[in-house]
Amino acid sequence: MEYRGYDSAGIAVERDRDLTVRKSAVRVGELRALTEGLEGAVVGIAHTRWATHGAATEANAHPHVDESGRIAVVHNGILENAEHLRAQLVEQGVVLASETDSEVLAHLIAAEVRQGRRLEDAVRESLRGVEGTYGIVVLDAQRPDELVAARNGSPIVLGLGEGEMFIASDVSALVLHTRQVVYLEDGEVATVRAGDYHTSTVDSRRTDRAPTTVDQSATDFELGGFSDYMDKEIQEQPEAVGRALLGRLDARLGTARLDGLGLDPRELRGIRRVKILGCGSAYYAGQLGAAMIEELARVPADAEPAAEFRYRNPVVDPDCLYIAVSQSGETFDTLATVEELRRKGARVAGAVNVVGSAIARECGSGVFLHAGPEISVASTKAFTNMTVSFAMLGLLLGRVRDLSATQGKRIVEGLQALPDRIAEVVEQRAAIAAVADRFADAEHMFYIGRVRGWPVAREGAQKLKEISYIHAEAYQASELKHGPLALIDPSMPSVVVVPDDELIGKNLSTIEQIKARGGPVIVVTNADLPCDLADAVIRVPRVEPELDPILLTIPMQLFAYHLARKLGRDIDKPRNLAKSVTVE
Ligand code: G6P
Repeated sequence: MEYRGYDSAGIAVERDRDLTVRKSAVRVGELRALTEGLEGAVVGIAHTRWATHGAATEANAHPHVDESGRIAVVHNGILENAEHLRAQLVEQGVVLASETDSEVLAHLIAAEVRQGRRLEDAVRESLRGVEGTYGIVVLDAQRPDELVAARNGSPIVLGLGEGEMFIASDVSALVLHTRQVVYLEDGEVATVRAGDYHTSTVDSRRTDRAPTTVDQSATDFELGGFSDYMDKEIQEQPEAVGRALLGRLDARLGTARLDGLGLDPRELRGIRRVKILGCGSAYYAGQLGAAMIEELARVPADAEPAAEFRYRNPVVDPDCLYIAVSQSGETFDTLATVEELRRKGARVAGAVNVVGSAIARECGSGVFLHAGPEISVASTKAFTNMTVSFAMLGLLLGRVRDLSATQGKRIVEGLQALPDRIAEVVEQRAAIAAVADRFADAEHMFYIGRVRGWPVAREGAQKLKEISYIHAEAYQASELKHGPLALIDPSMPSVVVVPDDELIGKNLSTIEQIKARGGPVIVVTNADLPCDLADAVIRVPRVEPELDPILLTIPMQLFAYHLARKLGRDIDKPRNLAKSVTVE
């Protein structure tokens, strides 16, 4: 699971009824070198860790092992009563080897095994005393013919091979070996042997999980000729958008078909509000989407970070369509928000990329993004497909209300043209790279946008922060003079988003205000503005005004990408970040 972002890694294998454990606080590459000589082993567990409890050290890396060196555990998630459990173990005389919450599992399970319990029962028994989230896999060196996995809040998927079995936290790790998979549900335990598997609940009821076939192949996850995944995924966007639109546009009626929502025209008309919930870039995509929905359908719409929403005890509106947006479909905060909304009887749809993921299953209805696997931590093609899906939703909601057939057809045509227009922006990569190079020594940058340009600016700043580590701050153009203008000087470049709309005059005066204070300006626009307007002008084609923000985001990706490259950053795996944040 290297691609998800991690800070240490480890592996444990069984040989001659004994565990051999190797760990690295650097990269999986280093771990590979440390595993020389372990090739003969037939069962093992490995893990890439993203530190939550305890620093990124070798001791804190998983697998964790009990004192006798018999039980090894890997764990995703967070144990909330870890402090209490650690204290109990210390009282019993156990010497803890790490600062992690996860280690307690190895000791608890080992204690149950010592009392003669089967591994599966030992795991079950131990999990009863544990609060929090987990996706775990357990190996007992004395019983190397089986592995036990359990899930609560962190994904676990079994891969069924012929005479061999796999367990992972993401199907992308499995497709090289098998496309037959079984997704565990929360509260389920699985015992896996080379030739078979069975599942049951934590409280011992048998469950029956039929395998599903993953419709992705190993090549979808490979780099091909690209130097990194972010570059590949940026370039895949025309195709990815084409897939999102496929079969969903009705040119004759000037509308969209989103059958996965499961809503008939009457129900669509009954929606009085749309609220989009997500985290990180998914939240910004939601913000961009909400603006399009409001504009196209004249239905009040907004977006909010999922965790903020759930912790402020929101008033749940029965006439609101809530949408959980997530690339991975596993983001803990978004999933927990869906659960809370469903508990309150709200109508929640998903806008999710990974089919079979927890959020997709919990929502039960929604729009799949069809972006294909996204490996780079910084989201690009999934972000774009989120916005395209929201544009289709806006169109659909608009067409059951006051958006005329003619206007609807104009939007359909705009959407159909998007893949080609995106390709034209991607083709400008060399010119955008040249602009990025000129600003690579900046320590801070502003991203400025107004109305349609505002979510674009926010996502632009997010991209730059994530992969270049340059401090970037997004502001509404109108807010600039109410504070941030104090920071403008020749060392503070501003990226200003200027859509070709009725607010262009206002945006041009914002640019003048920045220039008057000596601030360098990079303009990203689809208007015919003169090249000498600013220090750099990046031009993209026009689509339709309502859809322009989608296209204006693409140069933001390329700008951040080339800047990060110039600075020699680890683009696909930025420090401290993870692709899929399955912890709170
Ligand atoms: C992490 C990633 C972000 C991503 C966010 C939401 O924080 O680093 O790039 O936008 O998760 O992920 P999701 O899978 O829910 O879209």
